Amino acid sequence: MRILVVGSGGREHALAHTLTKSPDVSTVFCAPGNGGTASCGENVAIADTDVRGLVALAKDRAVDLVVVGPEAPLVAGLRDELESAGVPCFGPDAYASRLEGSKAFAKDVMTAAGVPTAAYETFTEAAPARAYAKKIGGPVVVKADGLAAGKGVTVARTTEEAVAAIDEAMVAGAFGAAGSTVVVEEALIGEEVSFLAFCDGKTAVPMTACQDHKAAYDGDAGPNTGGMGAYCPAPILPPARYDEMMALVIQPIMAEMAKRGHPFTGILYAGLMMTAAGPKVLEYNVRFGDPECQPLLMRLESDLPAIFMACRSGRLTPDLVRWSPQSALCVVVAAPGYPGSYPKGLAISGIEAAEATGEGAVTVFQAGTKLDNGRLVTSGGRVLGVTALGADLTAAQAAAYRAVEKIHFEGAFYRRDIGDKGRKREGN
Ligand code: AMP
Ligand code: GLY
Repeated sequence: MRILVVGSGGREHALAHTLTKSPDVSTVFCAPGNGGTASCGENVAIADTDVRGLVALAKDRAVDLVVVGPEAPLVAGLRDELESAGVPCFGPDAYASRLEGSKAFAKDVMTAAGVPTAAYETFTEAAPARAYAKKIGGPVVVKADGLAAGKGVTVARTTEEAVAAIDEAMVAGAFGAAGSTVVVEEALIGEEVSFLAFCDGKTAVPMTACQDHKAAYDGDAGPNTGGMGAYCPAPILPPARYDEMMALVIQPIMAEMAKRGHPFTGILYAGLMMTAAGPKVLEYNVRFGDPECQPLLMRLESDLPAIFMACRSGRLTPDLVRWSPQSALCVVVAAPGYPGSYPKGLAISGIEAAEATGEGAVTVFQAGTKLDNGRLVTSGGRVLGVTALGADLTAAQAAAYRAVEKIHFEGAFYRRDIGDKGRKREGN
């Protein structure tokens, strides 16, 4: 098979790396890819949002399957365009992708499907939005409706902060059209966990629960990021509860989407808050999480392209998805200043030395990197995902941090507490 991976992050390096290991895969293309995907196959300089360019590339290179990493091309209709051009694609259609592309749509689908989520209202005018935030009082969450590069959600501690966030989106237009509609909702309290499932339109098979770390600094302090590290399995949601979670947050959405004539194929990712009143959905994503994809794929024992093809053609069965009993943990190494502004072009060293610490159990996935005349340099905020396997969470954490110490670029920083919450829960 010839496979095209769309995207350029750590998730896409992990996808390309895993796909090349399949005996059924002859060639992997990545568009646009990064310094890491370059070593898995061929990078092609087409932006991940250039739908026409990607369809033309897939046809031109006789690609058998397109695997879409990020949400923006899915929301823009990449799957629809590929399939109408006769190219198989793993990922949901544009309508179903609105589960991630529109917060208001997602909340309405959750309500229709009876999925537990925070109480909310949707607004297209600032005055009633402010009034609703005041009515809820205290902490409240303000969400720009559309995709806003991860910056559209404000968890406001006070009504004043909430009003400022509403005005930023709806009056100042900080997120453009994405912020002209806003969801205001009650703030949920608890620990977050990511629950992902492979879906073929009718059948869904869960992956192991993961825990991401969204805040930039140790102890969940500092600004929100795309994710500073993740591990799985996450003890907060043990396998004994997966059936319950499937029935609560995955199957109702599959049924609702099928009812609307858009059966969900691809990955449905539920971002959950484990509240005192039970699990509630914070958001749906329609793709692998990043960095969650990195530790998840380290533990996948079965053939990834076989899973993707089965999802795409409605033949998914639980036996196609097998995981190693080991734990995996990923530590993101970021550029100085991330998630604010940061320098680019910093020379990176130590990747081979980091992988050598693990005797096959450590892989350094590259995210914001590129090759500059054969030299590996930084090109983004999240630069590397140092990912390790271990017999348990404690061992995976120790192995990942041993490897991280070998990585060097100017001003590199990372959280030192990835996995601590899970270890504490296990009594370690
Ligand atoms: P979202 O993109 O909707 O997941 O929001 C990004 C992050 O904001 C989530 O991962 C949570 O950390 C936080 N968040 C979103 N909604 C809520 C909520 N209702 N209560 C508390 N935190 C939230
Ligand atoms: N790590 C969170 C996300 O991919 O949305």
